Amino acid sequence: MEPILLVHGGAGDITNARVSGKLDGIKTSVRRGFSVLKNGGSALDAVEEAVRSMELDENFNAGYGSCLNTNGEVEVEASIMIGDLKSGCVTLLHDIMHPISVARKVMEKTNHTFLGGEQAMQFAVNQNFEILPKGSLITQNAKDALAEFLDRQSKGLDTIFSPTELDKKEAPGEPGTVGAVAIDIHGNIAVATSTGGITGKIPGRIGDTPILGSGTYADNTIGGVSTTGHGETLMRFNLAQRILQKMFYEKVSAQEATEFTVKEMTKRLVGTGGAITISKSGDIGIHFSSKRMAWAYIKSNKLFFGINKGDSYVESA
Ligand code: GLY
Repeated sequence: MEPILLVHGGAGDITNARVSGKLDGIKTSVRRGFSVLKNGGSALDAVEEAVRSMELDENFNAGYGSCLNTNGEVEVEASIMIGDLKSGCVTLLHDIMHPISVARKVMEKTNHTFLGGEQAMQFAVNQNFEILPKGSLITQNAKDALAEFLDRQSKGLDTIFSPTELDKKEAPGEPGTVGAVAIDIHGNIAVATSTGGITGKIPGRIGDTPILGSGTYADNTIGGVSTTGHGETLMRFNLAQRILQKMFYEKVSAQEATEFTVKEMTKRLVGTGGAITISKSGDIGIHFSSKRMAWAYIKSNKLFFGINKGDSYVESA
């Protein structure tokens, strides 16, 4: 099987000023992840590596650079899944740079699938994850976005539960997320997704990203999907699972299933988002109903990438 790695850096109202940083970061991520696959590594290692790259990069809403809740704190969440239906999910972590790696440990070291809150923090400590000094994941950009959000909210202009409003404006902060889908030389599929959620969320709010079938799903008999966008919308629609079910039952391509299902979600629930898909035969699907979504993939020694609707740039991998 030809190995492929496909990544996204979040769907949303990405401002012009943020475009070049996102494109640089997405290309770095896909190259780092693909270096694992190229050397015969597993899809699981590749998606973890790609997501770790974006968790370190403040251009993305995951790990360092995550959105802030109304207390001005970072609460991160992530999920990882492999095509034989094993998975690990975490939520409400703080001061940990790589929640995706904690999710992987949940999959590999426990009999459970999903850990959250302070006991998930304790699990991370037990697994020797570094707990950073409080506030280490907070960036100036995230603080500015929260200040703007709170200002608008106090004027009755904005709430996090109004996706129509958020999408019509240059909304503060980006309701994006980072994710990766890979297929390795053995035909194994893996998916990883990580996020800081949305700016101005109520402390304790959990989004779509750690929820299997919404943020992440992998099934070697169909394909893999990672999603991004307005969590309250994505989790109610079960975006990832619906894309795969369309491929499975209607035998449509990854692109057709991804495009149809993202459009259907926005038609039904108004909120916007995006998804990336790889089928079990290595077919690619990319679509977003938001203004922008950074994406990139490496296949056949070429790196394909874009961020605006209709983009399809190619360069040497
Ligand atoms: N998809 C990110 C979130 O809403 O939490």
